[in-house]
Amino acid sequence: MLSMIHSSALLGIDSYPVTVEVDLSSGLPAFDIVGLPDSAVKESRDRVRTAIKNSNLTFPVKRITINLAPADTKKEGASFDLPIALGLLAASMVVPQNELPEYFVTGELSLDGSIRPVNGILPMVYGAWERGLRKCLVPYENMEEAALVEGMEVYPVKNLLELVAHFTRKQRISPIYMDLEALFSQNESLEFLDFYHVKGQESAKRAMEIAAAGGHNLLLIGPPGSGKTMLAKRLPTILPDLTFAESIEITKIYSVAGLLRNKNSLVRTRPFRAPHHTISASALTGGGRIPKPGEISLSHHGVLFLDELPEFQRNTLEIMRQPLEDGQVTIARVNGTLTYPSDFMLVAAMNPCPCGHLGNGNKCHCSQNEISKYHRKISGPLLDRIDIMVEMPAISYDDLEESAYGDTSETIKSRVLQAHHMQLTRYKEDGIFFNAQLTPAQMEIHCKLGKEEKELLRAAFERMDLSARGYHKILKVARTVADLDGSDEITVRHIAEVLQYRSLDRKYMMG
Ligand SMILES: Nc1ncnc2c1ncn2[C@@H]1O[C@H](COP(=O)(O)OP(=O)(O)OP(=O)(O)O)[C@@H](O)[C@H]1O
Ligand SMILES: [Mg+2]
Repeated sequence: MLSMIHSSALLGIDSYPVTVEVDLSSGLPAFDIVGLPDSAVKESRDRVRTAIKNSNLTFPVKRITINLAPADTKKEGASFDLPIALGLLAASMVVPQNELPEYFVTGELSLDGSIRPVNGILPMVYGAWERGLRKCLVPYENMEEAALVEGMEVYPVKNLLELVAHFTRKQRISPIYMDLEALFSQNESLEFLDFYHVKGQESAKRAMEIAAAGGHNLLLIGPPGSGKTMLAKRLPTILPDLTFAESIEITKIYSVAGLLRNKNSLVRTRPFRAPHHTISASALTGGGRIPKPGEISLSHHGVLFLDELPEFQRNTLEIMRQPLEDGQVTIARVNGTLTYPSDFMLVAAMNPCPCGHLGNGNKCHCSQNEISKYHRKISGPLLDRIDIMVEMPAISYDDLEESAYGDTSETIKSRVLQAHHMQLTRYKEDGIFFNAQLTPAQMEIHCKLGKEEKELLRAAFERMDLSARGYHKILKVARTVADLDGSDEITVRHIAEVLQYRSLDRKYMMG
C-alpha cells in the first residue's frame, strides 16, 4: 500500500516541495528512509515509531520504505516527522487516504505523540499556497505564523490522536482565521525611548533624522558618555513605518531563524539589532551546519547597530562589505549556495581614540601611533560605505542642566515620513524605496544639479580628494536633505550641509 503526503524543505527564506512517499510491503519488518536524509531525518524513524505506539495506535509490522522526493537534494531537520507518521497511518489504513492530497503537512514529533513546532513555517506554507494547496496541517504553536498566508486554511494540531480523529471524521479540527489587517495595524510601543530626552547634540540628531529619512549608513564618533548609544537606541522611534510586504519579508526571515515562537507572529516594527562586538563572522552573516540567517539578515529593512565599532574583529567587519553593497548575503554550503536578504541600515558608534577623549582639551593621553592603530582597526572599504559621519562633543554640565529639550520623536518622525513619501512617489517606477538605494544611473535622473551646485561640488571634490563613491554618496545624502526640506531641486544649501558630514572622512579614514 502506498501513500503520499505534501511537505516541503527550506532553502534560504524560500521553500521547495518535498513529497513524502510511504510504501508498505510484506516481507521482513524493516523501516528505511531514502532520499538523502541527514541524521535528524534518519532519527525520524525512532520518533515516529515510538510516538505512534505511545498514542495507542497500531504501528504496521511490515517492510516500510519512505522516500523523500526529489531524491537528489539533502533533507535536514525533524520537520518530516509528521508527514511520515501521517503517511504511515494512511498506508496502514488507520486513516483514509482520500483527503490527504489536499493538505500540506509539516511538524516534529515528541515520543509521546505530541507535535512540536518547527522553524520556517511561513515560507513553507507560503510555498505550498503558491503550488496551489489550500489546506495545511501545522503544529499548534505555529498556527499564527501559518495563518499569515492569506487564502490558506490552517489546521493546527496538538498530537497524533487529534490528527487521526480529524481524518477519520470523528472530531474535525476547525481551521483558524486571523484578521491580517487588524494584526498589522496594532502598534508596538517604544514609549520609553524618545529623542526628547537627549539634550544638546543637535548635529548628531539632525544626522539621525537624515539617515532615517533616506536609509543612509551612519557613524557616530564621540567621547564616552556623550550619548552615542542613547541616540542610536532611539533611531527606531523615527523610522518610516513598514509596509505589509516588508513586514512579511522580515517575518519570513525570523520564521526561518526560529525567533517567532510565543511572540507575535508578524514582525510589525523595523528590526533594530545590536550584536555585541565579540560576535563571530558566521553569527553576523549567517550560516552554520543547519543554516540560519545572521544578524545582518535579522536587520533586513531595519537597523544594524554596531556599538564600539573598532572592538569588532576586523575580518568580521570585512565580510559585511558585499552584503552592504548588494542588500543580500550569499552563504557557501557543501551542496551549493544559499541567499538571505540583508538590506539594512548600518549605524555604528566609536570613540575618537583608545581613551576616548581626543579633541577634548588635554584630557587625551593617546600617542599618535595608538590613535592610528585604533582607526586602522576599521577597514577603509567599510568606512567608504558609510554615508554620514558625525562627531558628538562631550556633554557639559551646563548642557545637561540648561539646554532646552529638543523635538520629540513624534515630531521628527513626521518630517521623516514626509521625506520618505517624496521618495516613494519619485521612485514609483524605479523599484527602490530610499535615496540610499539610488544607483549611479538613477542619480543621473533624480539628482540633477544646477550650475552653482555643480561648481560647489567640483571644488569639494578637488579639495577633499573624493572617490567616485564619495561623490555619489554626497549626491544621495543631498537628495535626502532636499526631501526633508520639501524641495524637488537639490540646492547649494543642501549640498553644503552634506559636505560637513564628509569633512570627517580624511580625519578618520587614514588615522
Ligand atoms: N545628550 C545627552 N542628554 C542626556 N543624557 C545624556 C546625554 N548624553 C549622555 N547622557 C547620559 O549618559 C548616559 C551614557 O550615555 P551613552 O551610553 O549614550 O554614552 P556613549 O556615548 O555611548 O558612551 P561610550 O562611548 O562609553 O559607550 C546615558 O544613559 C544618559 O543618562
Ligand atoms: Mg556607548
